[in-house]
Amino acid sequence: MKILPIIMITASLAMALSVQAYQEVTSGGLETIRGIAKINETKSAEALKRVIKDKNPIQRNYVHQPPVVPHQTRGYRVNKDSNKCLTCHGWKYARETGATKISLTHFETRDGKTLSDVSPRRYFCSQCHVTQADAPELVDNLFKPVESLGND
Ligand code: HEC
Ligand code: HEC
Repeated sequence: MKILPIIMITASLAMALSVQAYQEVTSGGLETIRGIAKINETKSAEALKRVIKDKNPIQRNYVHQPPVVPHQTRGYRVNKDSNKCLTCHGWKYARETGATKISLTHFETRDGKTLSDVSPRRYFCSQCHVTQADAPELVDNLFKPVESLGND
């Protein structure tokens, strides 16, 4: 019965080869913003950038741009029970807090109805409004903000 050892050797060889093939999976030459990484390898994420803290409102780049957030938002909860952002940006509080009021579009439903309070589609503020960090561009680009909004 010499056939059994032969089968075993062949099987273990095949396994070893497939493990090697797995380890050699490459990115196919593609480079992501995180650099070249093998598909089966997880690169560690970059350290979090320091978020800009309490600046005046930042110039908008184009019409209908959701303005970017000029302050930190860590710990500002938004869930079905409460919305920290609205405690300053809601019309009820804005005068007192000095925050820009949410605009009328934030009361409109997707069917164009105007509600008496913020519309569900504008409830999760950070879906559109993002904090800023002073960081180099990830990708070179030729973007220029529109002049009509006071940009040079
Ligand atoms: C404690 C009050 C307060 C809270 C809470 C708050 N903000 Fe603000 N926010 C301000 C003030 C005040 C400004 C005006 C800029 C300034 O003077 O710092 C501002 C500015 C902004 C702007 C820029 C508006 C513009 O006209 O350019 C955006 C966008 C914004 N906040 C979004 C948010 C979001 C999203 C949240 C919740 C994650 C939030 N804010 C929570 C007080 C607040
Ligand atoms: C679906 C995207 C979206 C969501 C969600 C959203 N916004 Fe906006 N926001 C915008 C856009 C786009 C603008 C600029 C045009 C406009 O006013 O509609 C804007 C404008 C603003 C402005 C400036 C208003 C002005 O008069 O110039 C403030 C302040 C603001 N949003 C706060 C908030 C807060 C607070 C929330 C959460 C309750 C929120 N937004 C949710 C898209 C969004």
